[in-house]
Amino acid sequence: MKFFIDTANLEQIRQAQEMGILDGVTTNPSLMAKENVKGKEAVMAHYKAICNLVDGPVSAEVFATDFEGMIKEGQELAQIDPKITVKVPCTRDGIRAIKYLSGKGIATNCTLVFSVGQALLAAKAGATFVSPFIGRLDDISEDGISLVEHIVRIYRTYGYKTQVLAASIRHTNHIIRCLDAGADVATCPLKAIEGLLNHPLTDKGLAIFIQDAAKMK
Ligand code: E4P
Repeated sequence: MKFFIDTANLEQIRQAQEMGILDGVTTNPSLMAKENVKGKEAVMAHYKAICNLVDGPVSAEVFATDFEGMIKEGQELAQIDPKITVKVPCTRDGIRAIKYLSGKGIATNCTLVFSVGQALLAAKAGATFVSPFIGRLDDISEDGISLVEHIVRIYRTYGYKTQVLAASIRHTNHIIRCLDAGADVATCPLKAIEGLLNHPLTDKGLAIFIQDAAKMK
């Protein structure tokens, strides 16, 4: 399973990249707004800065919601860097835009996906990635991980090439459950990635090794 970091924060991206485990980045308008990026030029420059930090795909979301606006913006975003994946919401116009952009050879990520039906349309439109939102489903007492499993099963049964990118991951256990569910990618906050490191027996064992190593000095 590939690991993307779900942030537009350059420092966090740098930290995950330094760990040597990062395969890509996802952003969305809310994450970009948190970085106080204002104006089209600054937004484009910020995406470029992210692309310069990582080796893999960087999802940049269109702000437009109509077909014409999305394909114009999508093509502009794609010109920033070959690593850009254009992120498009799962709406009627969004599905049309994904079909259009993927026809032009532009990588796409169909976002705000909450059902198998939406994931089916994304795959049929040729999306590179589909982003089911786990945490937001869990927030309303539905089961986000079950949705990931269901999408993976259907894509494998019918041979769809679209990669399942589990999104809206809130904690470390979501990442582990995404592995079991067969997700191709999990996009995670830095904290959830770092949580994978934690084990009290590692801390305890290391403390003993440090003590014993000191005896040999
Ligand atoms: C990433 O592609 C999504 O935009 C993001 O994971 C949403 O996460 P949230 O539900 O925590 O805002």
